[in-house]
Amino acid sequence: MVRRLCDEADARRLLQPGPVVIMTVAWRGMANAAPVAWTVPLSVQPPLVGCVLHPDRLTGLMARHSEEFALNIPGPSLAKQVAFLGSITGIETNKIEAARLTVFRAQRVDAPLIEGCLAWIECGLESVTRFGDHDLYVGRVLRVQALDEAYVQTWRLESLEHSPLVYLGGSRYGVLGSPMEVTFRTDEQGGLVVETPEEREQREEREARLAELRKLEGEALEERLRLEQVRPLGPPVEE
Ligand SMILES: Cc1cc2nc3c(=O)[nH]c(=O)nc-3n(C[C@H](O)[C@H](O)[C@H](O)COP(=O)(O)O)c2cc1C
Repeated sequence: MVRRLCDEADARRLLQPGPVVIMTVAWRGMANAAPVAWTVPLSVQPPLVGCVLHPDRLTGLMARHSEEFALNIPGPSLAKQVAFLGSITGIETNKIEAARLTVFRAQRVDAPLIEGCLAWIECGLESVTRFGDHDLYVGRVLRVQALDEAYVQTWRLESLEHSPLVYLGGSRYGVLGSPMEVTFRTDEQGGLVVETPEEREQREEREARLAELRKLEGEALEERLRLEQVRPLGPPVEE
């Protein structure tokens, strides 16, 4: 294993894979949408969430003027639309229409909500604060909706189509998956028991099964190669 020194800029990508959201806004009869990967929960009571936007984003400007926005959380079926919405600004284009998206009315804000998403968070804008070259938009959560198939107290992750899309950077995306229930025990000194005797037994059984499987696969491959030497594979040669 090699531990490699990364660039300072890699910090953002390493921390990045939370769900990507499509931030929607409406102002003076115009609506706009942009994907935002840099989001953060900020407070439980009052419920506050944050979105980090570059000052160039029209979406941010419209959120400042309308003092509200919505966060739409897509699954993998909307990946192309997400990439498209992030590729152009809405200054001269009705991006929502161009992305062939259908919207429905939000309950507490004017920003439209996007059909086909897994969850929707409606927010009032609390504050905007500059950090370095980006602005933190703090939203007061006003209403939250989610599909039952996708979310019940936590993301269910039972099927890929109902799991949130995550953005890895560039044109790479992933889907949140492989949920695991994690419990742990401590010893008399309060230290973590990294592996209980039962877990050790299970691991050793798994490893033994895997080794057996590899051995069988190896034997099968050897047999195939032996047969191929006798009778090479490929189309029959015309006499
Ligand atoms: C997956 C994805 C995630 C993005 N995340 C952010 C982000 O967190 N903050 C940001 O300022 N821009 C982000 N962008 C870029 C904006 O979405 C992009 O510049 C968009 O075209 C802005 O549109 P607007 O000018 O209409 O607001 C992201 C783009 C993509 C494709």
